[in-house]
Amino acid sequence: MVVFLKLAGLLAVAAVVDAVPFVPTSKLSAASLYKKDVTPLPDYATAYAPISYLNSGESWWPSDIATHLQNVIPEIDFTPIDGFQTAGQTTLANLNTVDATAYLTSKDNVDDSPAWQLSNYGKPTTTAGGYSAAPGTIIAVQKNATWVDVFYFTFFSYNHGGAVLGIQFDNHVGDWEHTMIRFIDGKPTGMYFSQHGSGSAYTWSALNKTDAGRPRAFIAVGGHANYVKAGKQEYTVVGKLLTDKTNAGFAWDFAQNYRGYWFDNSTQTFSPAGGATTDDASWLSWKGFWGDDKYPLSRRGQYCIVNECHYAAGPTGPVMKNLGRNALCQREAKCSVYTSADDLTHQSKRTSH
Ligand SMILES: *[C@@H]1O[C@H](CO)[C@@H](O)[C@H](O)[C@H]1NC(C)=O
Ligand SMILES: *[C@@H]1O[C@H](CO)[C@@H](O)[C@H](O)[C@H]1NC(C)=O
Ligand SMILES: *[C@@H]1O[C@H](CO)[C@@H](O)[C@H](O)[C@H]1NC(C)=O
Repeated sequence: MVVFLKLAGLLAVAAVVDAVPFVPTSKLSAASLYKKDVTPLPDYATAYAPISYLNSGESWWPSDIATHLQNVIPEIDFTPIDGFQTAGQTTLANLNTVDATAYLTSKDNVDDSPAWQLSNYGKPTTTAGGYSAAPGTIIAVQKNATWVDVFYFTFFSYNHGGAVLGIQFDNHVGDWEHTMIRFIDGKPTGMYFSQHGSGSAYTWSALNKTDAGRPRAFIAVGGHANYVKAGKQEYTVVGKLLTDKTNAGFAWDFAQNYRGYWFDNSTQTFSPAGGATTDDASWLSWKGFWGDDKYPLSRRGQYCIVNECHYAAGPTGPVMKNLGRNALCQREAKCSVYTSADDLTHQSKRTSH
């Protein structure tokens, strides 16, 4: 309880600093007053951060959200919104002033595979032990005195979906996926792996870990769903089985480059927690979409079968992923926590998009 109250106190201080009106420089005793108070992430958030393996055949690598914003224009009904009519006008600092129903729309035709969508700069280095130039997003949520959920969000500027009977589905600009580790008294107890809006949860002992005790996650090629082990994973699209492929291609060490934040579930607010972060956490409050809206059937190359389309809409960000959850899973209603990594194929089948 002491730790919890201390944290609450620090967050309250941060909120007060936020609310201080403009003060001329001469009145400030220290330049540091310009900075918001930062409560760093707990050490265990990085000590147990997953090692996430990108597939050896991946082409759509992790992306820096700041770079993504430089290449998109917020649109509603495929029309740029006032004040943001050219790419580069949205930034992490002003994103939360953008209409929350907007879609961050690619300035380039996605069919041309622009370099920022292939985002080669985010490919983890093999020499530096899995460093990616694209920072991950780590969000810690204190749920009670002893219990902290730490979310590890990955972002990719493009999601290359899967093929069913040779027909490509579910391509979209922007792709948020995550894993989450639940800590009780600083000790990891379980982990969730997001997979295309659904996901799988496991006890800590079921996980494949490195010698340093960090859990391994395997990210499917193109669509970037997270799995507990390497191999083929099947899920259902258009009534057909679609196969996700994972292997230990390129290790991505989340702890080496990330933006860290706290999320206060009671006030639904974010605050910075160090790392490669800006001092500003406001972008996380934005509830809009990180990629193009679903293209109409009149658009060249668009087709839909049942509810699945070649080009789908971009996803919402971390704020819409049930950060305040009580169960391990994003969708709490049917959350089974498996005790063996071999249960994976039974859980990863999704029934709806
Ligand atoms: C906090 O939540 C955890 C997980 O649900 C529970 O085991 C624990 O008893 C709770 N602690 C307090 C002080 O409420
Ligand atoms: C854990 O993952 C590593 C890396 O892919 C692999 O070599 C190892 O066989 C896996 N261990 C188990 C028990 O699956
Ligand atoms: C987080 O807040 C939501 C909305 O108020 C609530 O339903 C949920 O139970 C909260 N989570 C925890 C762990 O207290």
